[in-house]
Amino acid sequence: MLKRSRDFKELMLKRKTVRDFSSEDVDFEIIENCIQTAGSAPSGVNKQPWHFVLISNPEVKRKIRPAAEAEEKKFYESKAPEEWLKDLQPLGTGTSKPFLETAPYLIVIFAEKYKKENGKTIKNYYVKESVGIATGFLIAALHNAGLAVLTYTPSPMEFLNEILGMPSNEKPFIVLTVGYPSEDAQVPDISKKKLDEILIRLK
Ligand SMILES: Cc1cc2nc3c(=O)[nH]c(=O)nc-3n(C[C@H](O)[C@H](O)[C@H](O)COP(=O)(O)O)c2cc1C
Repeated sequence: MLKRSRDFKELMLKRKTVRDFSSEDVDFEIIENCIQTAGSAPSGVNKQPWHFVLISNPEVKRKIRPAAEAEEKKFYESKAPEEWLKDLQPLGTGTSKPFLETAPYLIVIFAEKYKKENGKTIKNYYVKESVGIATGFLIAALHNAGLAVLTYTPSPMEFLNEILGMPSNEKPFIVLTVGYPSEDAQVPDISKKKLDEILIRLK
């Protein structure tokens, strides 16, 4: 058990968000396995309030990119507070999002706020918490498979409902960009907090 916990820690500590992707294809079965892993996540009253919309079609990606970049432009040029822009600087992000077209897969995770069955509204519980956990499972599974992932959150994201034909009871939660890093990919030089900064051990 100790070895497994150490090995998993080592594996997860090697994960880095990648923003430069190659267009090299990824075996579809790997993606399926990872999404099935995400679907095993715990959820409020086991409602499993999520859908994972998988996009590899270049035409769909070609619609998503300009719509996302239009939101980014508004964010960077007027909506974002100065402090947020300053915090973003070390990451080197901006309004251009080429990865939305170059990466072989985009996975748009939708949170099902409620659902309608036979005219009745069925409630889901702790939707954000549940979908957040499933997203974490998915990121870990993709990383374990050797894939690079970017957690991407244009804001607002409702344009994704329209492009992907998803109903209004499902809210876009996060876009995962998935593939292999490009040969010249770089990652920001950032670090994680040490254990004693995050663990509060009560005596
Ligand atoms: C909820 C959430 C939203 C994020 N949104 C974006 C985003 O829109 N664009 C981006 O480039 N990175 C985004 N990231 C990635 C973070 O910037 C990244 O995880 C953080 O800088 C730590 O780097 P690491 O993932 O390499 O540890 C997001 C991450 C999370 C968890």
